[in-house]
Amino acid sequence: MQNPHEERALLEVRGLSKRFGGVAALSDCSLSIAAGSVTAIIGPNGAGKSTLMNLIGGLFPPDSGSIVFDGRDITHEAAHRRARGGMVRTFQISRELGQLTVFENLMLAGQDARVENALVSTFLRGRVARSERRVAERARRLLERVGLFRLADEPASALSGGQKKLLELTRALMLKPKLVLLDEPAAGVSPPMVRELCDTIAALRAEGLSFGIVEHDMDLVAELADRVYVLAEGTRLTAGSYAEVTRDRRVVEAYLGGVA
Ligand SMILES: Nc1ncnc2c1ncn2[C@@H]1O[C@H](COP(=O)(O)OP(=O)(O)OP(=O)(O)O)[C@@H](O)[C@H]1O
Ligand SMILES: [Mg+2]
Repeated sequence: MQNPHEERALLEVRGLSKRFGGVAALSDCSLSIAAGSVTAIIGPNGAGKSTLMNLIGGLFPPDSGSIVFDGRDITHEAAHRRARGGMVRTFQISRELGQLTVFENLMLAGQDARVENALVSTFLRGRVARSERRVAERARRLLERVGLFRLADEPASALSGGQKKLLELTRALMLKPKLVLLDEPAAGVSPPMVRELCDTIAALRAEGLSFGIVEHDMDLVAELADRVYVLAEGTRLTAGSYAEVTRDRRVVEAYLGGVA
């Protein structure tokens, strides 16, 4: 799947560092995500995986280093602007969002992409309505695609853990992203729903979408990842295909050291 001469880096992270008080959560970490690929980030608990995802998504700024997305330096760009530019991270469905239906959740997620202005004149209302219809159509299409359509009118809180993960992914897709960042999508998800999630991600990749996935489920990583980065204690241990990194003794040691 990967041809190093043809692939284009959609995301290029160089030398990212982040400290929390006395803890060096991430030190001089570099990574790149090729367009149309699934890139996995693995490593023991506390390795800095979520910190890396949060820095990429713009939740907080790095102490040093740079992030270039789609040819633009976004190191200091706000999270919502990154999302608008095509980089979307998923969020857990909060208690408030749980009260909304599945469909309403998608309509809300889609609002970022449509005309939304308190000063919109009567003249523009027609255009807003049309754009709202388009958002609704997109929501229905995506729900059908991920197999949640029959649950469209259920409150999001009524979904199973796996269905919620699918809904989180679908909400991200409402923003028409180029890159989707997922932090432990398979955690707490039943095996049949992990299957569904994998199939959905593989199908989206086939259409050119890129993914950055932090995951402890090695079956998912083995199946989906075009490239795997291994973090330990805030630094990059190694990178390569799943087969390559799992042949590395240091990786096995880092896992045994971290998970035992
Ligand atoms: N907001 C924060 N404030 C203080 N320390 C933090 C914060 N976020 C992370 N850390 C610390 O930074 C280090 C890396 O944490 P991080 O959450 O990135 O690890 P992780 O690889 O995602 O681990 P896990 O597999 O358990 O999710 C840990 O020592 C953690 O305690
Ligand atoms: Mg984490």
